Amino acid sequence: MTYIVTEQCIACKHMDCVEVCPVDCFYEGENMLVIHPDECIDCGVCESECPADAIRPALSADDDEWVEFNARYARLWPNITEIGEVPANAKEMQGVPDKLKTLFSEKPGAGS
Ligand code: SF4
Ligand code: F3S
Repeated sequence: MTYIVTEQCIACKHMDCVEVCPVDCFYEGENMLVIHPDECIDCGVCESECPADAIRPALSADDDEWVEFNARYARLWPNITEIGEVPANAKEMQGVPDKLKTLFSEKPGAGS
């Protein structure tokens, strides 16, 4: 199993999650993070840290698409281990629908 970052992270990118991960397995895109599925040890501590409820365990086949998404971008984006600059409108973007279609950026973040 692994934990996954999902759509609600997009354009929120609060980054509280990276501060608690014991194995530093978050990777940074321009406006969201992902978890490397092969590095996550399923400790679960990041799930409750996310103000946007964007993290969950991948428990069923329904989550396969998001596992693949996390794996793909974890290979392309830099590792992030410390909280960076949170978008000014992060709170306002919480709960906005269809973020993947309208707001997702494939560009890498700066990493840390
Ligand atoms: Fe890191 Fe644990 Fe979250 Fe996996 S479940 S990403 S190991 S904090
Ligand atoms: Fe994203 Fe939540 Fe982490 S918004 S960056 S998964 S704390």
